[in-house]
Amino acid sequence: MTEGWPLTNGAIVVKRVFIKTWGCQMNEHDAERMAGLVAPMGYILTATPEDADLILLNTCSIRDKAEQKVYSDLGRLNAVKAARPEVVIGVAGCVAQQEGRALLQRSPAVDLVFGSKGIEHLPALLTEALTTRRPVVYTEDPIGLAPTLPADRRERVRAWVSIMEGCENACSFCVVPATRGRERSRLSQEIYDEIASLCASGCREVTLLGQNVNSYGRTSSEGVDFAALLDLIHPIEGLARIRYTTSHPNAMTPRLMETLARLPKVCRHVHLPMQAGSDRTLERMRRDYTFSEYLARVGELRRRLPNVALTTDVIVGFPGETDADFRETLAALEMIEFDNIYAFKYSKRPNTAALVLEDHVPEPEKDRRLQAALAIQRPITRRKNDAFQGRVEEILVEGPSKTDRSRLMGRTSSNLVVNFDGPPTLIGRLVQVGVIQVKANSLDGSLDA
Ligand code: 5AD
Ligand code: SF4
Repeated sequence: MTEGWPLTNGAIVVKRVFIKTWGCQMNEHDAERMAGLVAPMGYILTATPEDADLILLNTCSIRDKAEQKVYSDLGRLNAVKAARPEVVIGVAGCVAQQEGRALLQRSPAVDLVFGSKGIEHLPALLTEALTTRRPVVYTEDPIGLAPTLPADRRERVRAWVSIMEGCENACSFCVVPATRGRERSRLSQEIYDEIASLCASGCREVTLLGQNVNSYGRTSSEGVDFAALLDLIHPIEGLARIRYTTSHPNAMTPRLMETLARLPKVCRHVHLPMQAGSDRTLERMRRDYTFSEYLARVGELRRRLPNVALTTDVIVGFPGETDADFRETLAALEMIEFDNIYAFKYSKRPNTAALVLEDHVPEPEKDRRLQAALAIQRPITRRKNDAFQGRVEEILVEGPSKTDRSRLMGRTSSNLVVNFDGPPTLIGRLVQVGVIQVKANSLDGSLDA
């Protein structure tokens, strides 16, 4: 990253940018891209808004709760702006895309609004805000391919690489097609070059990001699909592991499963959102599959990829979900035995088809269903994790352990965190670690076991 902005008289002006991010890995990576975009303008990252010249709120609107957090932060930033009127405050991400100009009414402190679809325009928009000192709003729809953008990454061993933006599906609960727009893939060669350059400077694992990674290429004329992309990047020197998220059940084709099974660098973990176990609910969610079709995909995945870890997303309390429908979701969890689940209470979102549905499930009932789903899953996850006891697993060493900096941490191919003792020289290496203890959210391992 640039350390400052050299002026013609040789002086260096350092400006600071503070970025706060809510939401998914796409948003986290967008924060790295925003930092990468403003670095040539002289901005270096700072950890506190108080000393920042530029404050960016990188927002999420997947559920109402995430959106409300942004508004309370904006309230607090009014005080920062009152004390230092020269600071530039920007709202980016999905709430910015969704609300646009309305954000200026909500908070007089806001100078810049640009949505998830317009990140690449940040330098130009910031320059405009700085020169005109008037609020700038950008929520245009992008055209063409997804761009290749610089990124200022915090980690060396692992990296997020965006392969596509947006979503071409129309799940009735989901705000993403509105906030991130139509599906746009990046050119495969640009993805290859980015990963090759990351690996040349020490990266060993990439996570390919997109709302529907396994439909990569479907809207571009290149003729390279997700399976072909995996084959293309697999030989990159230095690259040890490939992860990807999120996959859609309908795009999990036999050809892709064959590729996932054949390529040794592809991790044995698939996140495959199920959303519900009831056909009635799936239909009203517009998921375009029945539960038995989903189940067949899971069976095929497990047959082709032995030991694959499967995780999923589930929404409880979708409008019209009866107790009997919900019991089908619980039965699905018991039948499939996912390694882990992310369960959410349905939240009404603007610009979504489900808004017009009736029979909303009361909040206390949604709470009850959420707890019921988690209670079914808890012992299953525990049992799956317990099975690691005594096994020797290949771990990619990421760095110091989060809980004890004198130890190391890495992940199994199935994405479980393992903490163990070892020298820092192992960081970035694949090592064999014996699992000696299974904890609630991680494993304890030993190089000698
Ligand atoms: N309410 C609750 N959960 C939602 N998700 C998406 N939209 C909503 C909503 N309106 C969940 C889905 C998705 C995950 C990222 O968030 O389960 O897979
Ligand atoms: Fe939302 Fe459905 Fe697209 Fe996933 S596939 S981002 S849930 S619309």
